[in-house]
Amino acid sequence: AAPVRYEAESSPAVCTGTIDSDHAGYSGSGFCNGNNAVGAYVQFTVNASVAGTATLAVRFANGTTASRPADLIVNGTRVQPAVAFEGTGAWNAWSNKTFSVSVSAGGNTIRLSPTTSSGLANIDYLDF
Ligand code: GCU
Repeated sequence: AAPVRYEAESSPAVCTGTIDSDHAGYSGSGFCNGNNAVGAYVQFTVNASVAGTATLAVRFANGTTASRPADLIVNGTRVQPAVAFEGTGAWNAWSNKTFSVSVSAGGNTIRLSPTTSSGLANIDYLDF
């Protein structure tokens, strides 16, 4: 089936930071500019029709030249530590990163939590 898009600026997503719209190219009405702190996060709640392995894609932009690593946390468990969110060249240059994760049937929380004080890359959406 075609993926469902979960926008970072729309409930049930939670962004500990601000929803901004000052860098073009985002989907929907904005993106999550998470606080520049360890443990700040964006969290999506996605619906899985069946339990199993699923692919998700996160769209992000990082206008710096340094990676903005983040833990990938599924249903409260860190499943991939300090995933690199590399510089994309500009804050308005968006890129996708895909992950394969194990999910339960029904609602699943997918959280990205930065591991450095630089915080997250800007996050536009999650496709699941
Ligand atoms: C700039 C940019 C923000 C970004 C921030 C950061 O302020 O405009 O979109 O989130 O840098 O470094 O996190």
